[in-house]
Amino acid sequence: MTIVDFNQARRERDASLRLVSAPRFMVAGETGSRLLAGPTASHGAESLEHHLDRLGELDLANVDPRELRDTLRESGLLGRGGGGFPMATKFDVAAESPGTPIVVVNASEGEPASRKDQTLLELRPHLVLDGAQLAAAAVEANDIVIYTHRSRVAANQSLRAALAERDEGEVRVRVVDAPETYIAGETSAVVSYLDGRGALPSRGVIPAARVGIGQRPTVVNNVETLSHLALIARHGASWFGEAGAPEAPGSTLLTLAGAVREPGLVVEVVGPVTIGEVLETYAGLRSVPRAVLVGGYEGTWMPGEAAWRTPVERFRLSQLGMSLGCGLVAVLDEDTCGLAQTAHLVKWLASQSAGQCGPCIFGLPTLSSELDQLIAGRSRKGDVRRLRELATSVRGRGACGHPTGVVSLIESALDTFAPELKSHLRGEICGVSRGAHDFPLPTTEESS
Ligand SMILES: Cc1cc2nc3c(=O)[nH]c(=O)nc-3n(C[C@H](O)[C@H](O)[C@H](O)COP(=O)(O)O)c2cc1C
Ligand code: SF4
Repeated sequence: MTIVDFNQARRERDASLRLVSAPRFMVAGETGSRLLAGPTASHGAESLEHHLDRLGELDLANVDPRELRDTLRESGLLGRGGGGFPMATKFDVAAESPGTPIVVVNASEGEPASRKDQTLLELRPHLVLDGAQLAAAAVEANDIVIYTHRSRVAANQSLRAALAERDEGEVRVRVVDAPETYIAGETSAVVSYLDGRGALPSRGVIPAARVGIGQRPTVVNNVETLSHLALIARHGASWFGEAGAPEAPGSTLLTLAGAVREPGLVVEVVGPVTIGEVLETYAGLRSVPRAVLVGGYEGTWMPGEAAWRTPVERFRLSQLGMSLGCGLVAVLDEDTCGLAQTAHLVKWLASQSAGQCGPCIFGLPTLSSELDQLIAGRSRKGDVRRLRELATSVRGRGACGHPTGVVSLIESALDTFAPELKSHLRGEICGVSRGAHDFPLPTTEESS
């Protein structure tokens, strides 16, 4: 039985487009059948008419939930919010748990330099909403909550305009303004907030997909993950697997940040490419940078040479002990000390603790002040050893991944910036350059 009523002519046209030009990476406005294919930002949000003309209708009323979940499992789609959890497994748990499930579109994108989810909402709102509707059909949910920020004006305007164009049928859709904190996008914090408590993570043994909002099974998915679902339902699992790698199929979105031509530019990686190729093509880099931060502010620093050769591939990165996380690729400015940049980020990340767990409440500010001492040239070798020991003791602690993420950032900085570390240990002082290439942080108002 067919899950979706395909428009045959459009499918054939898509297939021929894929054969003629299957780009290894792309930005919005190019041809093809992946997430960013279609009009650019200068055309504004894609209208429902244009969206349907380009991709074809979804026959939501005739979706077989089990069949859709089977297709999803076959596709191997992993979550794009950072955790990389298989979407099909989450759906199976929700569908098999007691109660009517709820679908949450996690559009909070709390990572300060990431723009991929905002870009999808702004340019492809109907793709995101198709994904949410399909998720609801797959688990037989009757409620969709879009968890987003009112402050992201363009994304919100597109979303609301798109909702006004659609008929969501039996499913109730509401938009909720999320708190502007880093951890508010973590799944258990999302559920807690939508349940009327604060946006506080919890280390529950029961997953939200089993017991979530109002004790109902709750599937929380990232905007990009849901958009992939909208394409998988149309083009199939094997089409999805034509991109990416067998262990982590499908295309993936990156946001470029830092010392790049256009901070905030979102690039879709379809075929095998290296970080260097992406930076050369879309960031305007003519030479290898000193260092690149991969995966987000709780990601991993890599020396420029190593990053340049590294493939943009989730599985390969995990083999290197790294994560592509939310897809952030941030280039360090030549005039900025990587340790000072790290200390700057760690201070902000420490301020984002939800204040529930000892290792996070006490460990992160201590790590931050130790880094400040180092940057100020007041640390000695023994202090660095203690800093590393403290970082190790914080790793894996707390109710959510926040402390572990901060530790990854610090440890990779100490390894990547060994020459800078030596000069600071000799008493030399430096700071983060305040140039055009700062790594952005939310203003106090936004993040409090
Ligand atoms: C501290 C922290 C912050 C997070 N913030 C976000 C966020 O802003 N947006 C998001 O989609 N996922 C975020 N996540 C990941 C979510 O917990 C969750 O994995 C994701 O929304 C699930 O969707 P996915 O399976 O489609 O990736 C965060 C995780 C952690 C540990
Ligand atoms: S580890 Fe930190 S951020 Fe996470 S729940 Fe505990 S206190 Fe909050």
